[in-house]
Amino acid sequence: MAAAIVAAAEAKGINLRHIDEDTVGVSADETTTQAIVAGVLEAFGAAAVDAAAGTDTEFALDAAVERSSGYLQHPVFNTHRSETQLLRYIRRLSDRDLALDRTMIPLGSCTMKLNATAEMEAISWPEFASIHPFAPDSQTVGWRELITDLEDQLTEITGYDQVSLQPNAGSQGELAGLLAIRGYHLSRGDDQRTVCLIPASAHGTNAASAVLAGMKVVVVATAPDGSIDHDDLNAKIEANKDVLSAIMITYPSTHGVYDADVREVCDSVHAAGGQVYVDGANLNALVGLAQPGKFGGDVSHLNLHKTFCIPHGGGGPGVGPVAAKAHLAPFMPGNAATWTEGNDVPISASRFGSAGVLPISWAYVKLMGAEGLTEATKSALLAANYVAARLNEYFPVLYTGEGGLVAHECILDLRGLTAKTGVTAEDVAKRLIDYGFHAPTLAFPVAGTLMVEPTESEDLGWPSASSTTASTPPPWRSRLRAR
Ligand SMILES: Cc1ncc(COP(=O)(O)O)c(C=O)c1O
Repeated sequence: MAAAIVAAAEAKGINLRHIDEDTVGVSADETTTQAIVAGVLEAFGAAAVDAAAGTDTEFALDAAVERSSGYLQHPVFNTHRSETQLLRYIRRLSDRDLALDRTMIPLGSCTMKLNATAEMEAISWPEFASIHPFAPDSQTVGWRELITDLEDQLTEITGYDQVSLQPNAGSQGELAGLLAIRGYHLSRGDDQRTVCLIPASAHGTNAASAVLAGMKVVVVATAPDGSIDHDDLNAKIEANKDVLSAIMITYPSTHGVYDADVREVCDSVHAAGGQVYVDGANLNALVGLAQPGKFGGDVSHLNLHKTFCIPHGGGGPGVGPVAAKAHLAPFMPGNAATWTEGNDVPISASRFGSAGVLPISWAYVKLMGAEGLTEATKSALLAANYVAARLNEYFPVLYTGEGGLVAHECILDLRGLTAKTGVTAEDVAKRLIDYGFHAPTLAFPVAGTLMVEPTESEDLGWPSASSTTASTPPPWRSRLRAR
């Protein structure tokens, strides 16, 4: 019955949602016309409806649900009365914005790299932008080809066996990955394996995700050089060996360093029956050079809104693909559209998560190619080491790895300066903004420090004499001066 109605509607160019044998979902929005409503009625078997005969009152809302309070009351909604005024208003707003079109955004741990126009162009095309997440497969062949291709590329880049693009953020990818670990242990009758080891330097989302996945967090100490404290790690593995579920490590670490002992850490956890979650937020330091799936990880999330050029845009929508080894595949996110109780759990409400932005990452990977991606990683490493080497004399670089080098970011330790002069890391961050520089990450992962990640998007030529930012003070500077 439901199938026949859905088919009749589709024949008229209208998609209804087939929920079960007797249930059909109908969604409408402000673009739904009377002709569409008439088509839906006909698909349900109503006699032909004269769409043109409909009047607005037939679609009027019940008085009980009509809004009676005021709305759009802020002056901004009634001040700009001409296109000229509106244009100037928009320009004023954009002048206040400190974005990558003005200056480097050196946010360590965030990888704010260029989202190139050529990569982003396609997402506004109706062929991509106007497809509903639950459109029938027959209408999404091209979309799914792009998605599968991107999954394949990410599988190859990470060295895992499969990727799900469903999670909408890195943190959601963490949850999906940890649920996969949990599902794996449960499938083996290891219900008691619920302890998750997390180094003290980890991003806050790691512990939050572990708790959400029903795990108990045990923190592993950091050694004075910023690496994982091995004595503490081994003691905690030993103390929890029967209940150990996983370790979550970040590689390179949030200290901006490639921990040389990463394989050793993974081996120790595996030997105790635990799984290894490698937080892939810092994949910009790995692409083309190393693969988490090959150096000991069982599962990772990536952040397409970091390494793969999707804008972070006000916290989302991002994409945090979860990538895993084959043994975790049965526990990866299931399909939200077909999920039934007791089966693999969907992690977001639609099968491909924030699919609308995937053409950006697809284009990035295709335009760069394997060689280009590796070059980008090397340039990002070089840029970070250049910044570290140039600033070290004035603001000591807190942690370095083998050979005195950092990975893709560096932590500048301002605590000595603060002790001597009272000038804090926060003061420096704010003063940088006065001069048109975006402030680096402040106080993460170490209080009193700034963390800088230049990425591969910056070259040595900036700011040059010809740079408009260098020769023309940004508007907020003069405003600040005038105060
Ligand atoms: C190391 C690390 N892990 C996880 C995350 C979480 O990713 P998201 O912000 O996409 O949820 C971040 C975000 O900055 C991070 O830096």
